[in-house]
Amino acid sequence: MRLNKYRGPGLAARLKLGRDKNPTVLSGPFKGLRYPTYGIGSEYFPKLLGTYELELHPTFEGLANTTFQDIIIVGAGEGYYVGGLARRFPSARIVCFEADPDGQTAVAEMALANEFSGRLDNRGFCEPADLRAVLPESGRPLLVMDVEGGERQLLDPEAIPALSRTVIVVEVHDCFEPGLDELLRQRFQATHHCEDILSQPRTLDDTRGLPLSDDLRQRVLPLMNEGRPARMRWFVLTPLA
Ligand SMILES: C[S@@+](CC[C@H](N)C(=O)[O-])C[C@H]1O[C@@H](n2cnc3c(N)ncnc32)[C@H](O)[C@@H]1O
Repeated sequence: MRLNKYRGPGLAARLKLGRDKNPTVLSGPFKGLRYPTYGIGSEYFPKLLGTYELELHPTFEGLANTTFQDIIIVGAGEGYYVGGLARRFPSARIVCFEADPDGQTAVAEMALANEFSGRLDNRGFCEPADLRAVLPESGRPLLVMDVEGGERQLLDPEAIPALSRTVIVVEVHDCFEPGLDELLRQRFQATHHCEDILSQPRTLDDTRGLPLSDDLRQRVLPLMNEGRPARMRWFVLTPLA
């Protein structure tokens, strides 16, 4: 049921998207990533199109100029960021957490298909102690988090001091818990610069990076909808020191 839900509407089939048994991401920072045929926890087609969280493309393009030895992804879904970041940072150690066992399986398959299993540590539900244990003792790791409100518990630098030197890209679920944005802002105020990025509705202009004809670009627009419950925001937290 869940897998079918995230395979998207019939329009996709008419466009022959998702029929490919070995799809790859079509555009964006993770273009060329070999992808599963289903999604876990979020809409599938924006990822295959490469327009998923388009608002963060400049962030990930910018981060690609930094060398990260440790990348941690919490709330991995089927592995869009796991696979994408493994591809962009070919020597990084990748640790990911996904509570849904189907997601863990998808991540493992993606790692095999994209040949990064050897540097992947694929884990289940993430508690604060787990995050504390996987953050390295020194250096500047990258943490990407989307945990549906769990960021209140997990992004606590008092409990996890290594967060103070971690680059953090987090989807902030203040739509579920009003005030969570302000709480996170305060927690990292002394140690990080906070860039606040708001989600935007998709427009035809957003299809311009897709390798599709003008006619298909028009028709693909509904597939770019990420089905968000409200206008969402991300924080990109960069250590000051
Ligand atoms: C909206 S989805 C993430 C989508 C993700 N941005 C992607 O690229 O596919 C949120 C996921 O977080 C997972 N999750 C929520 N809390 C978690 C936790 N504490 N540890 C691990 N996974 C968690 C859920 O199972 C769900 O699959």
